[in-house]
Amino acid sequence: MIRLAGVTKTFRDGEQALPILRGVDLEVAPGELVAIVGPSGSGKSTLLYIAGALDTDYGGEVTIADVPLAGLSPTRRAALRNRAVGFVFQSFNLLQGLSALENVMLPGMLRRDGTDRADVRERAADALDRVGLAAKAKAPPARLSGGERQRVAIARAIFTRPRVILADEPTGNLDAVTGEGIISLFGELARDGLTVLVVTHEERVSRAAARVLHLHDGRLSS
Ligand SMILES: Nc1ncnc2c1ncn2[C@@H]1O[C@H](COP(=O)(O)OP(=O)(O)OP(=O)(O)O)[C@@H](O)[C@H]1O
Ligand SMILES: [Mg+2]
Repeated sequence: MIRLAGVTKTFRDGEQALPILRGVDLEVAPGELVAIVGPSGSGKSTLLYIAGALDTDYGGEVTIADVPLAGLSPTRRAALRNRAVGFVFQSFNLLQGLSALENVMLPGMLRRDGTDRADVRERAADALDRVGLAAKAKAPPARLSGGERQRVAIARAIFTRPRVILADEPTGNLDAVTGEGIISLFGELARDGLTVLVVTHEERVSRAAARVLHLHDGRLSS
C-alpha cells in the first residue's frame, strides 16, 4: 500500500515561495484503484512523483509497500522504487529503436539480479499478453497506435511485478473508447491485488475508480 501523511511541497521562484501541496494525507490499499482529480497546475504530477519516491524534497511522511522513506539512503530508496513501484506516464516514454517486447524487457535488463535473458524475455511476453498485445511484440512504437503504446507502457510497468502502480494522465493522449480500455485494465490490476493510483483531470477516468479525491488548494478532499 501507499501512505502519505501531511505531505507539503513548495517550489521556489527566486525570492518567491510557491506552495503547491499544503498537507496531503492519502492511503491507498492493495486492491484499490484511487483517482486524484484536479485542474492543470494543481500539483497532481508533483504529488505522484513524491508518492513514487522520484522526488525527495518535500515535507511530511511517505510510506511505500510498508517501508517509510524517511531515513532511507538514496541507494535503498532507488532499490525500493525499482522493486515496488511501476510508473505509467502520459507520454508513454517508449524507446523508438526497440520493439514492444524489448521496451517491456528493458527494466529487467537493467536490473542485475541474476535473472537470465531468456527468463526476462518470457516474462516480458507474459506482460504483453496480460495487456492484450502479444501479437504486436515485434512492432516498434512507431507502428503502434496510441492505445497500444500505452498498453506497452503498462506492460513495462507491471513487468517487474510491483505492488504499486502510479499513473500520470494515462489516457491523456487517447480517444474515449481507447481510454476506457486502459482504465478497465487498471481496474483489473487493482482486482489482482495491486495498489493503483491514477492522477488525471479527466472525469471519465475518475468514474471508473472506486474512490475519487480532488486536489484543490494543495489539499485532498473527497
Ligand atoms: N520545478 C519546478 N519549479 C517551479 N515550479 C514548478 C516546478 N514544477 C512544477 N511547478 C509548478 O507546480 C505546479 C504544479 O505542477 P504539476 O506539474 O504538479 O501540476 P499538474 O496538476 O500535474 O498539472 P497538469 O494537469 O497540467 O499536468 C504548477 O504551477 C507548476 O508550474
Ligand atoms: Mg501533471
